[in-house]
Amino acid sequence: MTAQQYETTGPLTTESGAPVADDRNSQTAGPGGPVLVQDQHLLEKLAHFNRERIPERIVHARGAGAYGTFTVTRDVTPYTRAAFLSEVGKETEVFARFSTVAGNLGAADAVRDPRGFALKFYTEEGNYDLVGNNTPVFFIKDAVKFPDFIHTQKRDPYTGSQEADNVFDFWGLSPESTHQVTWLFGDRGIPASYRHMHGFGSHTFQWSNADGEAFWVKYHFKTDQGVKSLTQAEADELAGKDPDSHQRDLRESIERGEFPSWTVYVQVMPVQDAAAYRFNPFDLTKVWPHADYPLHEIGRMELNRNPENIFAEVEQSIFSPHHFVPGIGPSPDKMLQGRLFAYGDAHRYRVGINADHLPVNRPHATEARTHGRDGFLYDGRHGGRKNYEPNSFGGPPQTDRPLWEPVAVSGWTGDTEAPSHAEDDDFVQAGDLYRLMTEEEKGRLIDNLAGAMAGITHDHIAERAIENFRKADPDYGKRLEAAVQALRG
Ligand code: HEM
Repeated sequence: MTAQQYETTGPLTTESGAPVADDRNSQTAGPGGPVLVQDQHLLEKLAHFNRERIPERIVHARGAGAYGTFTVTRDVTPYTRAAFLSEVGKETEVFARFSTVAGNLGAADAVRDPRGFALKFYTEEGNYDLVGNNTPVFFIKDAVKFPDFIHTQKRDPYTGSQEADNVFDFWGLSPESTHQVTWLFGDRGIPASYRHMHGFGSHTFQWSNADGEAFWVKYHFKTDQGVKSLTQAEADELAGKDPDSHQRDLRESIERGEFPSWTVYVQVMPVQDAAAYRFNPFDLTKVWPHADYPLHEIGRMELNRNPENIFAEVEQSIFSPHHFVPGIGPSPDKMLQGRLFAYGDAHRYRVGINADHLPVNRPHATEARTHGRDGFLYDGRHGGRKNYEPNSFGGPPQTDRPLWEPVAVSGWTGDTEAPSHAEDDDFVQAGDLYRLMTEEEKGRLIDNLAGAMAGITHDHIAERAIENFRKADPDYGKRLEAAVQALRG
């Protein structure tokens, strides 16, 4: 571990810089008497301590971060005009934060849960955030279900614990979750470390080139360390022995100079393919099979520098799916659309209105030139410059060029399901994933799922959940039913 030394000399001071005479004894009215209000050092110290915490992230509270570099390895200018992707060999600073989803701050790392894979690219056109997971798909496909879904993953309002009833009730009633649940309880459901897992942008995004031609893309980050995972038994033991296992592993590997890296790929779909593609290309519960849209390598990401202060740089870091740069934009994926609101709102609540301007969050390769001003903890960065637009004092002009290309829409407004494509149903890709597994992998999947379902207290909840797996593959349902019966009796 690198020990940090003080760079300044001089006495201990109060927050306002006055020397502190005694930091071990508070002031009293006579030896042994009550404590005095005039002891401002004591009051300030207690008050500051009371305010050390900010609200933890409502999801992904538990995580670890590191800085690094993204390097372009292939020419992607036919697909995007993003400046940081403009040249082979071009390097961009990145900050990554990996996390679990359901656990509160301080929870163990070695648990069965998706891992967050949040990236900030400090580009010369502003920060580009890709806030993905280590899984290519997700449990639901409409943002309106997200708070309910997360309520079932976190603590029950009455018991204060995560409850198998809630988890499997929601999944059983949300058949679109079958694919992601099959992934989660399979061999990759508990990564051995943050270095040994892939990352995905998960959603479909829009790329557009200098001529204004648009494409739909999906990002894949393949770990160069190889995928390594833990069995349930290994994870249970590690979580008990070393709750900080993944955080420690990431920090220590970087301290040793073993810099983890990922090779980065995209799948590219011409915009005109989308309407007739066999799956809805904007459905987050589905992958695009590589046979349909192969992976194109675009770059390499390496993490090589640890943050110095976890609170300042990891806890206060903010990532938002709406942080786009020219040449990259959203797709009509209903989950992504909801996320375009949720993160900025969370940041304003959790870190404050000036969160974007903290050192870890602000642009590093350009500057933010806004007329947004003031608010809590404003640092005066605009000096005396005018705070409105248009102005005749040389204020920053608008560019008149949107970051991304327009998307054609049709029809009426309303609470609608996304259009269904020829091969869309909630079970087909879950069944495909099951059938791809070896016999041993299937056995572990069934054991893991049955183990998690053993705590269900209502038969109908277990039966409905099993029915979804049966629809994915009859053998999957049959084996799971037998395993659950053996455990639940
Ligand atoms: C509509 C669905 C979703 C909503 C409303 C939502 C909302 C949120 C919120 C409010 C946070 C906390 C942000 C903060 O306090 O800084 C968060 C964190 C996060 N979410 Fe989501 N989320 C959704 C779906 C997803 C999906 C599909 C993924 C991945 C594909 C994802 C990945 C993450 C990650 C990685 C973080 C942690 C970011 C960090 O390290 O600071 N979320 N989400």
